Amino acid sequence: MENELQKLKQEAEEALHAISEIAHLEEFRVRFLGRKGLFSTTMRQLGQVAKEDRPRLGQLANSIKKGIEELFHDKKDAVESGCDTTDRDVDLSLPGRALSFGKLHPITQVMEEICAVFEGMGFAVAEGPDVETDHYNFEALNIPKHHPARDMHDTFYVSESILLRTHTSPMQARIMENQEPPLRYIAPGKVYRCDSDITHTPMFHQVEGFLVDRDVSFADLKGVLTSFTRRMFEKDLPLRFRPSFFPFTEPSAEVDIACVICGGTGCRVCKRTGWLEILGSGLIDPEVLKMVGYDPDEYSGFAFGLGVERIAMLKYGIDDIRLYYENDLRFLNQF
Ligand code: PHE
Repeated sequence: MENELQKLKQEAEEALHAISEIAHLEEFRVRFLGRKGLFSTTMRQLGQVAKEDRPRLGQLANSIKKGIEELFHDKKDAVESGCDTTDRDVDLSLPGRALSFGKLHPITQVMEEICAVFEGMGFAVAEGPDVETDHYNFEALNIPKHHPARDMHDTFYVSESILLRTHTSPMQARIMENQEPPLRYIAPGKVYRCDSDITHTPMFHQVEGFLVDRDVSFADLKGVLTSFTRRMFEKDLPLRFRPSFFPFTEPSAEVDIACVICGGTGCRVCKRTGWLEILGSGLIDPEVLKMVGYDPDEYSGFAFGLGVERIAMLKYGIDDIRLYYENDLRFLNQF
């Protein structure tokens, strides 16, 4: 009998030690401590032992059972609270596993920074749909059907009149048609073009900006863009305004910034020119103003569309635009 009790004690301790899930706690309780459990069954056999041994064995059985009950309750608390440290394989002196934090994508960071610079100059931020109508993407920007300028856009069409916006300029028309000047807005977002090489990806990011008021001139545009680049790059990089053409601006200019990758001496990113194009801009074409119901004799405005990937490349000295979209954590964790 005494041997049996000691064996039972050992068996119970081992079974308890192995438990790591709440579900197994109840199984244990029923098997060892329940009314028909192993302890009760063993104790019932006390009636058959010699009378003089009965008190001693009875006491032993009770104290073993009590000990197991205590161990069981400790285990139960530990398992239920999720801090079961009774397992001797756990080394509590080891340092914890560090949490790895997610980060904003470098493009998102740069986009937020661009917005913050313009917000500092009093521009409000607006966002519009990626899936756009032909009307806002083209017609309202003075690009009618069959206009040759449409060829420059390599458009992804959803249907004949629905497309993925090829630039953020549709936001000019969307905002102007609902509000009266003076207006000062920027519109950041994704744009899509069927194009892919070391300086182009089929999806990229732009920040549109525009300002409409009385007596707005090209000098205002130059001033705003010059202060923007100074703040963005924290130094006085030379800018170059190159005459260009957009159907929705007149006159139009593309703006280049000295290539910070090679310092202007020529590399594969700037295609050996020493300059990198970062935006298109101009004074808003009177036709566009007329279409939203503004009087071009009363109001004028400027607009620009910045390429975010380009600006981020310059800011961080990245020489391949595709790196942004390969999801390589070794690259992304550097920002
Ligand atoms: N939408 C033009 C582009 O994507 C850029 C631009 C914006 C030009 C605003 C002029 C004014 O190429």
